[in-house]
Amino acid sequence: MPQIIDGKKISQQIKDELKAEVQELASKGRHACLAVVQVGNDPASSVYVNNKKKACAYIGIESRSYELPEETSENELVSLVEELNNDAEVNGILVQLPLPGHIDEDRIIRTISPDKDVDGFHPVSVGRLWIGEKGFLSCTPAGIIQLLKRSGIGIEGKRCVVVGRSNIVGKPMAALLLRENGTVTVAHSRTKDLKEVTRQADILIVAIGKERFITHEYVKDGAVVIDVGMHRDAQNHLCGDVDFADVEPFVSAITPVPGGVGPMTIAMLMNNCVETMRTQEERS
Ligand code: GUN
Repeated sequence: MPQIIDGKKISQQIKDELKAEVQELASKGRHACLAVVQVGNDPASSVYVNNKKKACAYIGIESRSYELPEETSENELVSLVEELNNDAEVNGILVQLPLPGHIDEDRIIRTISPDKDVDGFHPVSVGRLWIGEKGFLSCTPAGIIQLLKRSGIGIEGKRCVVVGRSNIVGKPMAALLLRENGTVTVAHSRTKDLKEVTRQADILIVAIGKERFITHEYVKDGAVVIDVGMHRDAQNHLCGDVDFADVEPFVSAITPVPGGVGPMTIAMLMNNCVETMRTQEERS
């Protein structure tokens, strides 16, 4: 029987550890405040933003909401982010993506101070990750490393294949696996003979955004499979990029959807917020 990696349980453990750490740091006069900015009212974004605020309340971090109308201009949003950069009370800034089409997301991401970039999306955070400097890590890939480590799955020396090359998941995932001494291949939509590549993987991480795309033919017997996808199928069921029922009999460990990678993203965002408190301590 394969190990079903329980992201809900592991994320709860992490949040409980962070809650205890926040109490300890607060008793030393440390404080964290996360500014959460949402432009427009996309329902999916509202759910994510609310879950982030709830997680802040749970672990004892202050959150401040900035809910801006859809027609907010790019310059207005830049001004708000600059204000938050300069606000000594704010330690972390999160601008929920996607932004409305008339706003240049890259410009907004670059405006956030790298010292407050708890999403880890700023080019400075990305550069720090690749050269092994301390910095904020992109939350979903950092969460996947925690899922593996806390499930007793070693990365060092393993063949790791990441399918997908987005800035938010695929690329930082590759950097983190490399940092853990994995042997890393990044495959993508233009990869030739994708099955041949994915079948090499001891650890296969799938972030392609295609419903139940990965079937057992893509997977080596005994591999570990991590599914970053999240879709609603024609029957209104949640499912991932991996065809779970088809792949599960062949693997040694696999993440379910829901309840695998998803809950880890917020736990790691909370870890990045607590990191701002840890660094305050170092300065004192
Ligand atoms: N939209 C979907 N996922 C994320 C995320 O991790 N951070 C931000 N800021 N927006 C998102």
